[in-house]
Amino acid sequence: MTAYDVVVIGGGPGGYNAAIRAGQLGLKVACVEGRETLGGTCLNVGCMPSKALLHASELYEAASGKEFASLGIEVKPKLNLLQMMKQKDESVAGLTKGIEFLFRKNKVDWIKGWGTLSGAGQVLVTAADGSLIQLQAKDIVIATGSEPTPLPGVAIDNQRILDSTGALALPEVPKHLVVIGAGVIGLELGSVWRRLGSAVTVVEYLDRICPGLDDETAKTLQRALSKQGMKFQLGSKVSGAVVKGQGVELSLEPAAGGAAQVLECDYVLVAIGRRPYTEGLGLESAGLTTDKRGMLANDHHKTAVPGIWVIGDVTSGLMLAHKAEDEAIACVERIAGRSAEVNYNVIPSVIYTKPEVACVGLTEEQLKEAGRSYRVGKFPFTANSRAKINHEAEGFVKVLADERTDEILGVHMVGPSVSEMIGEYCVAMEFAASAEDIALICHPHPTRSEALRQAAMGVDGWIMQA
Ligand code: FAD
Ligand code: NAI
Repeated sequence: MTAYDVVVIGGGPGGYNAAIRAGQLGLKVACVEGRETLGGTCLNVGCMPSKALLHASELYEAASGKEFASLGIEVKPKLNLLQMMKQKDESVAGLTKGIEFLFRKNKVDWIKGWGTLSGAGQVLVTAADGSLIQLQAKDIVIATGSEPTPLPGVAIDNQRILDSTGALALPEVPKHLVVIGAGVIGLELGSVWRRLGSAVTVVEYLDRICPGLDDETAKTLQRALSKQGMKFQLGSKVSGAVVKGQGVELSLEPAAGGAAQVLECDYVLVAIGRRPYTEGLGLESAGLTTDKRGMLANDHHKTAVPGIWVIGDVTSGLMLAHKAEDEAIACVERIAGRSAEVNYNVIPSVIYTKPEVACVGLTEEQLKEAGRSYRVGKFPFTANSRAKINHEAEGFVKVLADERTDEILGVHMVGPSVSEMIGEYCVAMEFAASAEDIALICHPHPTRSEALRQAAMGVDGWIMQA
């Protein structure tokens, strides 16, 4: 038996960041991870491989469509899907090895195997060869992440009916891909395959895409993706799927009730959300229970059992890598007896489609529901010189500020490189900045970031460049 100050279960963005911070603070720490590689969902089958394919497919489409030709670059690209997948896998392998390096640098022991809570301060690890390792810890951090939510009647085989992991590793370009769920995964991976040549139909239960996203932002994104050829079938539910040889027959019904319809395709991607993952964790032996969704509750990252903490996708809040990372830092600081807090009001969200979407803070709908008086500053990228010269002028920056104090309450953007620009507003909101603060700050010209300033000027009605 080896004794540690902290044992972290799970080696994703929650777990590996918790382990690294614990190492930095001089705690004796181990991270238990059952996968062959560190990095969790994010590095292995989530954020990173999806962004690798989004990047490559975006370039392929630019080269093969009208975009390159209109810039005076005439090429005839040929898709080498095998190479596209290989470069993705190599990048992922490099990143996961990088976490191993960071573990060595910060004196974190990686215990390879699946961890089970086995009594107070005890974690039992089962290694791949079946051998058992008993660990003892003053504090245990659960960071076991999430898994795709299954859809009854649509059994995932990762041959024809895929989850996100299957859709990141297809051996061919689908002729017709049906995506179930118009959320982040559906729109990102649907974009990848559409750019590479698939017809893509997105079936969504609700009568809108991306629930939770600011309404106007979601509508603008849907319009842009529709223009690119993505088809949306909103207000529809899939009641069953039958694989027939190389194809799949989906039974679809209007969500509000009505006649069923059959939709044929060669691949289906089920992307209707993710659910917390606690299988085999032995929660009962530790006296822990989950809610109906399988989620472990927390109070400032503490579970109901003293000495057991929980962070990341397996607990409440947005299922995002940077949210897990923030919780990891705050949780370990608290374990080390220091003070720390996560500001859940300033967790940005990004959708890496083209155009991109980036948001932070409250939506207009949330402000209305809360009865808060607010002002809006909105600036279109059609009036931003850099976006215009680059022929990527779709979208806008929208700033929502308190009517009385001018404090920035929410920012919603659709457009070029907005994923890289939302950080400016995160900093501003952490400092409780007013829209006027941003409006008075010099931004470099010509950059897309000037749109951030113009939108802030718009809150007080003095946009100068539109
Ligand atoms: P995870 O990353 O899921 O890590 C948990 C780890 O724990 C896993 O490696 C698992 O093997 C391990 N584990 C579980 N149980 C045990 C056990 N008993 N013993 C040992 N190990 C165990 N988020 C973003 O912010 N940006 C994005 O662009 C983005 N893109 C995504 C794209 C896709 C296709 C998907 C699926 C997700 C994406 N996400 C993105 C979400 C992001 O991946 C998650 O929010 C993030 O990985 C959560 O981190 P985590 O540490 O809580 O859990
Ligand atoms: P999601 O919650 O984003 O979207 C799921 C969609 O499926 C919703 O629109 C929902 O209304 C719809 N839906 C639910 N049940 C349905 C049904 N039976 N039939 C049809 N539609 C149905 O979930 P998604 O896309 O699976 O992503 C999971 C998580 O991964 C998200 O929480 C997200 O935060 C994270 N993620 C983040 C990314 C990013 O930050 N860029 C990229 C990919 C994933």
